Amino acid sequence: MATPVVNAEYLKEIDKARRDLRALIASKNCAPIMLRLAWHDAGTYDVNTKTGGPNGSIRFEEEYSHGSNAGLKIAIDLLEPIKAKHPKITYADLYQLAGVVAVEVTGGPTVDFAPGRRDSSVCPREGRLPDAKQGNQHLRDVFYRMGLSDKDIVALSGGHTLGRAHPERSGFEGPWTKEPLKFDNSYFVELLKGEAEGLLKLPTDKAMLDDPKFRHYVELYAKDEDLFFKDYAESHKKLSELGFTPP
Ligand code: HEM
Repeated sequence: MATPVVNAEYLKEIDKARRDLRALIASKNCAPIMLRLAWHDAGTYDVNTKTGGPNGSIRFEEEYSHGSNAGLKIAIDLLEPIKAKHPKITYADLYQLAGVVAVEVTGGPTVDFAPGRRDSSVCPREGRLPDAKQGNQHLRDVFYRMGLSDKDIVALSGGHTLGRAHPERSGFEGPWTKEPLKFDNSYFVELLKGEAEGLLKLPTDKAMLDDPKFRHYVELYAKDEDLFFKDYAESHKKLSELGFTPP
């Protein structure tokens, strides 16, 4: 599929879509699932084969029906009217823009957004996204395959400040924080506090505490929200641009 031409007209459409996304997210309270959609489209990237990544391929049933994507069809459908209104914008750009806006409107950092991603109709094979039942070696295997670092792993895990797990989607249940529609550093604060009634900790979340390198960042981010926001914004931008060089 063709690379979109990022000219003044395209940028204007991006700006309009950004407004539509803010309105959609405010009216449907769907910031968490929008962030998860952006992450799952991007997080399939393989730096060695240069396949997967933020290329809109999650819009196809072949990919959104993967077990790890359970529930994300809801987000795909919510974005269809915005795609129809701004047909020039690629799915790949729209999904990443939705992730950036979700973080912004819930009080998180501004994540720089560069448009121009091309859509792909090639879906990666199932199994490239992390499995919440595993441990630190698995997290490293998956994120290093994307070309990301230990710091990126911890900063991006802070995305669980938003939203919740649904038993019918992942088998897990509940939010990570007391205010799952607010983007802040409470994911790290709660993780260090240990088990708390009504709050979720995935095996992968807890595992990070056992690894000195991961734990170092968890402690830093729990103490210093400004630092978390700065690092998160950098890591999110990297995630949103895997395999993509802005024109
Ligand atoms: C939800 C696993 C990383 C953002 C979930 C759920 C699981 C999960 C099991 C629950 C899904 C459901 O039942 O609806 C993991 C694992 C990760 C990871 C194992 C490895 C580190 C990330 C990253 C981000 C992210 C990097 C974004 C930067 C979210 C959000 C939700 C979520 C926002 C809530 C969705 C909702 O409320 O509908 N994740 N995740 N996750 N994840 Fe992650």
